Amino acid sequence: MTHAHAVAERNIRNAAVRTRNMKIVVINEKEMRSIMSMKDAILAVKEAASNYSAGRTDIPLRANLNVKEYNGNSLYMYGYVPGSKALGVKLVSVYPDNPKKGVSACPATVILEDAETGEVNAIMDGTYLTRLRTGALSGAATELLSRKNSKVFTLIGTGGQAECQLEAVLAVRDIKEVRVYSRNIDNVKKFIERVSSGKTQKFVACKSSDEAIENADIITAVTISNVPVFDGKKVKKGCHINGVGSYTPEMSEIDEYIVCNSGKIIVDTMDGTINETGDFLKPMNKGLFKKEMITGELGDLVNGKCKGRENDDELTFFETTGSAVFDLVTGQKIYEAAVKKNMGKTIEL
Ligand SMILES: NC(=O)c1ccc[n+]([C@@H]2O[C@H](COP(=O)([O-])OP(=O)(O)OC[C@H]3O[C@@H](n4cnc5c(N)ncnc54)[C@H](O)[C@@H]3O)[C@@H](O)[C@H]2O)c1
Repeated sequence: MTHAHAVAERNIRNAAVRTRNMKIVVINEKEMRSIMSMKDAILAVKEAASNYSAGRTDIPLRANLNVKEYNGNSLYMYGYVPGSKALGVKLVSVYPDNPKKGVSACPATVILEDAETGEVNAIMDGTYLTRLRTGALSGAATELLSRKNSKVFTLIGTGGQAECQLEAVLAVRDIKEVRVYSRNIDNVKKFIERVSSGKTQKFVACKSSDEAIENADIITAVTISNVPVFDGKKVKKGCHINGVGSYTPEMSEIDEYIVCNSGKIIVDTMDGTINETGDFLKPMNKGLFKKEMITGELGDLVNGKCKGRENDDELTFFETTGSAVFDLVTGQKIYEAAVKKNMGKTIEL
């Protein structure tokens, strides 16, 4: 150990004697569900989007470590949103072999810091936070873009993200009928059984995407598909569409017809969507779509910097690929509410 190291270590030891312990609130999914409603999550992502699009955030490119010995990747999505006092990181790992070990293929955790001191003050379930804020993004877009009298909602995809996508649309529109479609009708039926309990809407398990989108006012696609999951030309006039699943150039779930013929196209972040999603990149490579056809970001819409729907006939389309900004602001609101309600488990370091 060098002299400088020894001095630094002694200073840390002495400082530890003089300073307070870090208090960290650990918040699990069950607690998060009771702390934050979907309506509050929608307000949180609107605040995040507004700050992001006005340039009031610092969100570096996510860092990626390859852990090749275990066929894994560890991603670090971090940033700072001064207006929300939100500072921290979401750790997301992608380990395709995990399910064989009974472990999630994508474990995720969010760590928040006190912006004033840099101390860690919260650790929460990143998987549920991702589902909640991603649902809330579609909810915010649906609230701002869909026709107010929308009654029929179609959900395509019944995986991990689907439930929060459903809750989000139900939180912002008076939906009477929910049509659900995915590749496997048994999964659709099981999904409906799980999510429909206590709800007044009529739920329909659909055997085809044509059946699912007939007469739909709002459609959300949340799949891992590489090909369009419904026929865009069969969509009713004035429909609002949310595209949630595609985040690589190979993946695409939204028909080119929708991408190229929507009256308004809103994205969560311009950089993310234009560089990542096959929904845009595929028609772009064919010369059918240009970046200029994108109306603006969700935050521009919130800030009144771009136009939303202008009549009942136009198609509106929202595309999201996600960003740490939405995790951090939503997470910070959950942490603040947990402290107020004395929820979560506090540990000291
Ligand atoms: N935009 C964001 O911020 C964000 C955040 C989290 C996840 N995602 C993405 O959302 C997607 C869905 O995530 P998940 O966890 O629910 O996935 P999942 O694997 O749990 O479920 C995928 C669903 O897609 C359905 N599907 C696949 N191909 C289909 C097709 N051709 N037609 C109809 N249905 C089809 C499957 O049947 C299944 O129901 C993923 O690509 C994920 O990366 C986006």
